[in-house]
This record gives sequence, C-alpha cells and structure tokens, in this order.
Amino acid sequence: MTRIARREASQEEAARQKEIIGRLGKRLEGQELTYHLSTFGCQMNFHDSEKLRGILEEIGYRESADETKADFVLYNTCAVRENAEQKVFGKIGFLKNVKRSRPHMLLALCGCMMQQEGVVQTLKRSHRHIDLVFGTHNLYRLAELLEARMDSDSPIYDIWDSHQEIVEDLPTRRTDRHKASVNIMYGCNNFCTYCIVPYVRGRERSRNPEEILEEIRHLAADGVVEVMLLGQNVNSYGRGLPGHTNFARLLEEIEKVEGIRRIRFMTSHPKDLSEDLIRVLGASSKICPQLHLPFQSGSSRILERMNRGYTKESYLELIRKMKAAVPELALTTDIIVGFPGETEEDFLHTLDVVDQVGYDLAYTFLYSKRTGTPAASMGEQVEEEVAKERFNRLLALCNRQAYDKSAAHVGKVFEVLVEAVNDRENGILSGRLANNHLVHFSGAPAEGFLDRAVGTFLQVKVTGAKSFYLTGEAI
Ligand code: SAH
Ligand code: SF4
Ligand code: F3S
Repeated sequence: MTRIARREASQEEAARQKEIIGRLGKRLEGQELTYHLSTFGCQMNFHDSEKLRGILEEIGYRESADETKADFVLYNTCAVRENAEQKVFGKIGFLKNVKRSRPHMLLALCGCMMQQEGVVQTLKRSHRHIDLVFGTHNLYRLAELLEARMDSDSPIYDIWDSHQEIVEDLPTRRTDRHKASVNIMYGCNNFCTYCIVPYVRGRERSRNPEEILEEIRHLAADGVVEVMLLGQNVNSYGRGLPGHTNFARLLEEIEKVEGIRRIRFMTSHPKDLSEDLIRVLGASSKICPQLHLPFQSGSSRILERMNRGYTKESYLELIRKMKAAVPELALTTDIIVGFPGETEEDFLHTLDVVDQVGYDLAYTFLYSKRTGTPAASMGEQVEEEVAKERFNRLLALCNRQAYDKSAAHVGKVFEVLVEAVNDRENGILSGRLANNHLVHFSGAPAEGFLDRAVGTFLQVKVTGAKSFYLTGEAI
C-alpha cells in the first residue's frame, strides 16, 4: 500500500469505529453505565488507556473508581515481568467472586499479556467469567468488540499477531489538561534477549512526522504546554519512513510548535543515540534537560549476552558527551540484576557505572524469566538469593544517590509547571521542574483558588529534599 492509501484506509477505519461508537451510545442511552479501567505497565500502556477511556466515555460510560460496582471492568495488562502478570491473575480471581453477585457486569482484559498464546489458553481454560479479551494491535476496536459481546452468549477473544493500519483519529481522554503523551512510534525491533516487548508489541513502525505535528498542534490549541513523546526506542525514529527524517529532525520541528513549552521523550536506547540528537538537545530551550537512558548492566560481557549493542565504555562515553552538551542534565536509568550468567564481578561493573554517572533516579529490576525470549533458555540462571542480595546493595546505592541529587537543589529557584493540588496536605501544590524532579510547595499566589494555578508556570524556591521529591515555596 502506498502512504496515501494507508492514510485513507486508516481514516476509513476510524470513521467506521466512530459510527459504531455512536450506534452503541444510542443503544445504551439512559442506562447510566459506569466503567472501571486499571492500567499496568509503562507509559505506552497508560497512553493506550487514555484512548480506551476516550472510546468508553464517547459511548456514554462514566468512570468509576470502584471495580466491584462498575458495569464494565477493563484491565490493560503488562507482560514485562512475572510479578506484573501475577497481579493481573490475582485481580481476575477476585472478580470471579464479584461477578457472582453482579452477573450483568462485563469483564475485559487487553494489552501486552494478551499477546501471549499461553496466557490466552489459560484464560480460555480456567477463567470463563472473562467476557472480552483483545490485544495491543486492535484496541481501537473496543466499541466494536463490546457491541459484539453484547450480541453474543459467549466470550469474545480477538487477538492479532501484528498490526494492520495505525488508527489514530479516535476520541482520547487525556489524564492531564496541560500535559499529553504522543506516540511517535510503535513496537520494537531490538530483541534484547530478556525482553518480551518485541513479541507483544510487534515490529517497530514510526508515525509520519506530519501526523505527529498535526496532533501536537491540536494539543497546543487545546491548552497543552508539555508533550511526552513515546516509543520503545525513540532514537531509531524514522527508520523505514520515506525521506530523511530522524528523531533529531522531528524534535526540531516539534520545537517550532507555538504554545508547547516543554518537550520530553522516552525511551532512548544508547546504541542509537546520535551526535545529531546530542547537538539538538544542547541547542534547545524547550527540550527538557532530562534523559532516561537505560543501561541494564555495567558489564560489557553481560551487555553482549543481552544483545544491547554497546559496551560499558561506550555507554560512559555517551554520558560524558551528553553532560558536556547539557550541563544541567538529569539522568535516569533502568538496571536489571541477576541476568543469566551474571557474576559478582559483572555486578561490580554495574555498581561502578552507577557510581560514575550519578543518576537522579534509577529503576532497578530483578531479572524475570520470560517464556519465549532467548535468555529464558540460557544456562547459568542466577540463584534468587544471590540476585536479591545484589539487588539490595544496588538499591542502597541508588537511593543514596537520588537523595544527593535532590539535596543539590536546596536553596535554588526553579521554574515549575504546576500539575496538581496536593490532596493530602492543605494549601500545597505539586509540580515538576524542567529536569522532571517533583516538588511539593506552598505559598502559591493564587492561594484560595489553588486549582487555578494548575497548568501555570511558577518560580519556586526549593527548601527541602527527600530521595524522591523536593519541598519548597513559590516566590
Ligand atoms: N524500551 C525500553 C524499556 C522497556 S521495558 C528500553 O529499551 O529501555 C522497561 C524496563 O524493564 C527495561 O528497561 C528493563 O530494565 C526492564 N525489563 C525488561 N524485561 C525484563 C525482564 N525480563 N526482567 C527484568 N526486567 C526487565
Ligand atoms: Fe525491550 Fe530492548 Fe526493545 Fe527496550 S529496546 S523494549 S528492553 S527489546
Ligand atoms: Fe509496556 Fe509492559 Fe507492554 S512495559 S509495552 S506494558 S509489556
């Protein structure tokens, strides 16, 4: 299909879905139905959930915080680690009892877990109370699937192996008025040997720059001042698209959109972080001085077994260049402990990288075996006790470092985008610095009308620091 034909097919499909949404809305009119949606996993899933909410609310469902009282309960699931999956199975068991006393309620599961054959088989065999199951490639069809379930006596399972068209033009219900997530690409081609994502999210595909820019212009017109660009590996954006577009060029274009004041993105893969990008980051006033750059392991030997495509030395070199280009850069990362074959010596390299780089925040994970990935069948799986002991040492270092990074803000003044009225403490607002540090602060000028401050930029003096947030006063 040509690009234009693809665009037309996608618009046609969106129009078809909108028609179904309208039809279902009429059919359910006056019933005052509610939905409950729980999301597991990464920002990608949270953004998908904004789309699912958009569809449900357009049909006429209202959101309910209580899953035992909602008419439609939907879980958007994550498969990245075993404990994410266990949480969902726990919920499925819990809902079985709830449904006994409320047989009319509809239960649905979607997202990454559903893209695994084994999970679907277990559901079909042992969890007949689930009404609707769909995956990551067809979530825009929620209205159609819901309608099909209402017209059928048995559960509906609709899972696709790969995507067909990318369907975008459907209602979305943003969580925040002033910030928005924007998908710039889907899927992943990297096949890190521990990771399930390429199997459940499919091959990497980039959206056209014009479509992304159009979406961001609409968001800006709607009052959005901050965008988060999403992709599993944003640094490879543009591969496979015609012309010479790449992530650095896309950022330069987004920067020109009037009204957008902060640009963030995730996730960056170190192997694809280009000199071009470093230059754009260094020169930009809107791209936030913040970078999430997972390194996973500090041992070049383990990195090779993980298929990450860089070494300890090349990673550290990259960090050095980034810090030189953006001196106030805040760095965050992901680290896996206990990958098959990891020795104490390998682990010491991981501690060494943390020590040398200095992270504002590190997300640390115990390696979790994912069926179907190459690492699952590697020998030398690390004993749980050993991995846990290493994990605790790493965590202690990361927490200490996070505290030091926080403490370095005390006494200084920063521009803060106000994000929320703190619901636990009276008169306190919460917001973020450009470098993404969270601050809770008092003394907002709009005192008494605190919610009016949400979405505005204030100057805040930082007066205190904890490992994971700052405290301060508006000036
Ligand atoms: N695309 C992103 C990460 C997506 S998954 C990237 O490449 O950085 C988020 C994080 O989960 C990963 O960075 C990794 O640290 C962790 N992770 C993925 N698979 C895992 C597994 N099998 N066990 C433990 N942690 C895992
Ligand atoms: Fe997983 Fe690696 Fe792709 Fe990230 S880059 S989603 S860790 S396979
Ligand atoms: Fe994200 Fe989990 Fe899927 S990390 S892409 S929701 S497997």
